[in-house]
Amino acid sequence: MSEKKDPKDTTVLVTGGAGFIGSHTVVALLEDGYKVVIVDDLSNASEKVVGRIGQIVGDEAASRLAFRKADVNDRAALDAIFDEFAIDRVIHFAGFKAVGESVQKPVEYYSNNLGNTLTLVDVMRNHGCKSIVFSSSATVYGDPDALPLTEKSPKKPATNPYGWTKWMIEQILTDLTVADPEWNVVLLRYFNPIGAHPSGLMGEDPKGIPNNLLPYVAQVAVGKRECVHVFGDDYDTPDGTGVRDYIHVMDLASGHAAALAWMNGREGVEVFNLGTGKGTSVLEIIKAFSAACGRDLPYQVDPRRAGDVTANYADCSKAKAEMGWEAKYDIADMCRDSWNWQSNNPNGYED
Ligand code: UFG
Repeated sequence: MSEKKDPKDTTVLVTGGAGFIGSHTVVALLEDGYKVVIVDDLSNASEKVVGRIGQIVGDEAASRLAFRKADVNDRAALDAIFDEFAIDRVIHFAGFKAVGESVQKPVEYYSNNLGNTLTLVDVMRNHGCKSIVFSSSATVYGDPDALPLTEKSPKKPATNPYGWTKWMIEQILTDLTVADPEWNVVLLRYFNPIGAHPSGLMGEDPKGIPNNLLPYVAQVAVGKRECVHVFGDDYDTPDGTGVRDYIHVMDLASGHAAALAWMNGREGVEVFNLGTGKGTSVLEIIKAFSAACGRDLPYQVDPRRAGDVTANYADCSKAKAEMGWEAKYDIADMCRDSWNWQSNNPNGYED
């Protein structure tokens, strides 16, 4: 068994901790009493996030947070961070995440996402830290044979290099626990994270044209884009549009805190789905967001997007039974908080 420790005696390194899911998770960890070190190269995040986290959690909790600007691929920088702080556990978010871009830049995606993970686990074990939570994705289930998806549903070949990196990193971390049973690995498979911190201080800040539905809808709502493009209305779903399991980023953050508490004192590898268990269509999202922002958002139906599955949603009973975690926020909450963030910060973290 790995050593059991109180949150106040536990230092968690969060790679990619300035990003969308990372930043909300850091808040949850600080609120639970952990000491947190963010390592982020800010290639797809803003340093302002660190200040916003401080504003949300207050001075005492903020005093338990450190930020180091570094690329996880930079072994010397990572070594220095592990020398400086006695890291007990790692939550690994850092990585490239744009599905379409990954098809254009497979070398960059494999090199960055696999490379940084290999560097990270090597530096970890050199410093006697063998406890990691990995940011995986429902993408590993591919086009499902049956719904809802449980952790026992088969992994399917990925449809793009980004998906393959999630798939392969799950395998790498699992192999690690076979080779050395002292490793303690939790693979969290997220469904579709949306929403924002209810304070309106933190949220998703995609660069350029958003690839994902929610940030796109939010930008239509603030008038930055003309209309939502619905990718296909001829799917075999109740209204013909794609169905996904959208989960509030606050719930995802509490899911990471639950995973840290659950893995305390354990060894081996475990997989958990993090979703709500409920499927929502594209048209239902547009309707819910229209209600949140107070006007009917314009949309047009376009052809299907290559690589999209018809529907997916999670069975989250394992996370509830094992970790005592379940999602609390519904679609109306997600759209309200997303709108609050977007309307208060139309240009994201930029001035
Ligand atoms: N959609 C639109 N218009 C848009 C964007 C998306 O109609 O402008 C539709 C899609 O066709 C899909 C749904 O909205 O039906 C959700 O699409 P997203 O791009 O928001 O999310 P995906 O389910 O495609 O992607 C998510 C994660 C990825 C992950 C993938 C597979 O964002 O990281 O699930 O699990 F790889």
